[in-house]
Amino acid sequence: KTETEAELIGKQEVLTLYKPRKKYTNKGHYGHALIVGGSYGKIGAAALASRATLASGAGLVTVFLPKCGYQIMQTSFPEAMVVTDTDEELITQIAVNFNPSAVGIGVGLGTHDKTIIAFEDFLRKNKAPLVVDADALNILSKKKTLLKFLPEGSILTPHPKELERLIGTWKDDFDKLNKTKAFSKKHQVLVVIKGANTITVLEDKLYVNTTGNPGLATGGTGDVLTGVITGLLAQGYNPLVAAIFGVYLHGKSADIAVEKTGYQSLIASHVIETIGDAYLDLF
Ligand code: APR
Ligand code: MG
Repeated sequence: KTETEAELIGKQEVLTLYKPRKKYTNKGHYGHALIVGGSYGKIGAAALASRATLASGAGLVTVFLPKCGYQIMQTSFPEAMVVTDTDEELITQIAVNFNPSAVGIGVGLGTHDKTIIAFEDFLRKNKAPLVVDADALNILSKKKTLLKFLPEGSILTPHPKELERLIGTWKDDFDKLNKTKAFSKKHQVLVVIKGANTITVLEDKLYVNTTGNPGLATGGTGDVLTGVITGLLAQGYNPLVAAIFGVYLHGKSADIAVEKTGYQSLIASHVIETIGDAYLDLF
């Protein structure tokens, strides 16, 4: 039997984690993040994630995409640098010429056999702190032997279906949490269980988020969360702080955004636009 410690994460908790910007700093102090994702028809996922990465404060972001995403990214998001695969529609080999401060991988990635090989090859070489989402999680679920290549403290951000693929089915919420704790302990990773009350799991500890609303039940908001957490990691927040602070900011951004949009018309881009307001709300 495991001892459960649960902590609610609200403004007070997050304020103790926040690191203010200093005057004499430049973009080099805030990290160079890498977002890896996208496939034909899902370049938008990488666009949302990379935009959120910069909006959460990373100094630089590079996006690695299939070739077909090049123009889309450069025109929709000029602040990002773009490196493309040799393949037009898929990621088949992940190669960049810098050492990223943090990597967010998986959004819109697809699970093509060639992409699985590229992901495996990337994991074997990678040393940067990682956020693993969406199809990168689905690949890990298909090939569990890859889990051993995740750096300690990697942040996994499954929605309920992705979590089920990863840890199997559960009887009830208690069982789900116990299985997730065991998974976290076994693989030495953080698991962010997304949903109405997102819970970050680190071994036996649970961090329950208090922000967010049903407006977030819309395509692309998970991609935004991946970007926010990757941006915080790139700035030097440790993985636990990046996860719980990121989840808080993402939910708070949505809470501010719905004041104008209402639940129904909130879309993921709105959540990016209000990340700044979520930061300002801390003070
Ligand atoms: N209340 C609060 N937050 C919510 C609610 C709710 N009712 N519903 C969803 N959210 C939040 C989640 O906590 C999470 O942060 O919205 C986000 C949704 O993330 P995903 O489920 O990953 O959705 P998204 O990524 O946008 O979906 C696009 O990516 O992961 C794949 O299979 C997924 O095809 C889908 C695609
Ligand atoms: Mg998702």
